[in-house]
Amino acid sequence: MPDSFQARDSRLVALDHLLTRRSVGLLQDPAPQGADLDLILEAGLRAPDHGRLRPWRFVTIRGEARIAFGERLAAAAARRDPEAAAALGERARAWVRRTPLLIAVGAVVKNGKIPEIEQVLSAGAAAMNMLNAAHLLGFSAMWVTGPNAYDANVNRLLGFEPPSRLVGFLTLGTPAAARPEAPLRPERAAHVVDWQPPTD
Ligand SMILES: Cc1cc2nc3c(=O)[nH]c(=O)nc-3n(C[C@H](O)[C@H](O)[C@H](O)COP(=O)(O)O)c2cc1C
Repeated sequence: MPDSFQARDSRLVALDHLLTRRSVGLLQDPAPQGADLDLILEAGLRAPDHGRLRPWRFVTIRGEARIAFGERLAAAAARRDPEAAAALGERARAWVRRTPLLIAVGAVVKNGKIPEIEQVLSAGAAAMNMLNAAHLLGFSAMWVTGPNAYDANVNRLLGFEPPSRLVGFLTLGTPAAARPEAPLRPERAAHVVDWQPPTD
């Protein structure tokens, strides 16, 4: 059944708002919680998924648990680079402490007929859905990886043993400074082609 004009209008308003999404790294409280956080996680669970494997795993890291997580990141950094342990450790602790909410997003990869990349892409799609949901709810967020996301010890700490893996961390909260303007949209022509059969 076609949309009513009203339903289409409200969808266009949502889409218009979606196109203003941008990443914000410097965040402060409040973070999404309660019903808002539930909606964000539900949006993640609407990611497309080949074979109904449901490879998505979201690990929320919030409140006091962030302090312990920061310590573990500092220890992981020290193992990766003992000479820079002090500086890297302080950076990791400070990052976690100032981030109102982290969601570690990973793919629980199953060996079988669905290629690993498709399972990882599905987890990436879940991450994107959550970024969009956070934006629509009036929060800001950013997807980050860095060495921690590729560190086997950090992966294990969060429950990901190979071939399962983290695809990154979402940081969520409220912008600590004025919300920046959405970046100019990239030139469509640089990214989109209308395929035509070769004339040979
Ligand atoms: C998989 C992935 C990992 C990323 N990791 C980082 C990161 O570690 N540090 C960073 O500054 N930006 C990282 N980014 C980029 C930001 O999330 C963001 O997309 C970028 O700053 C552009 O901002 P925009 O989303 O407003 O266009 C990553 C993006 C993706 C998709």
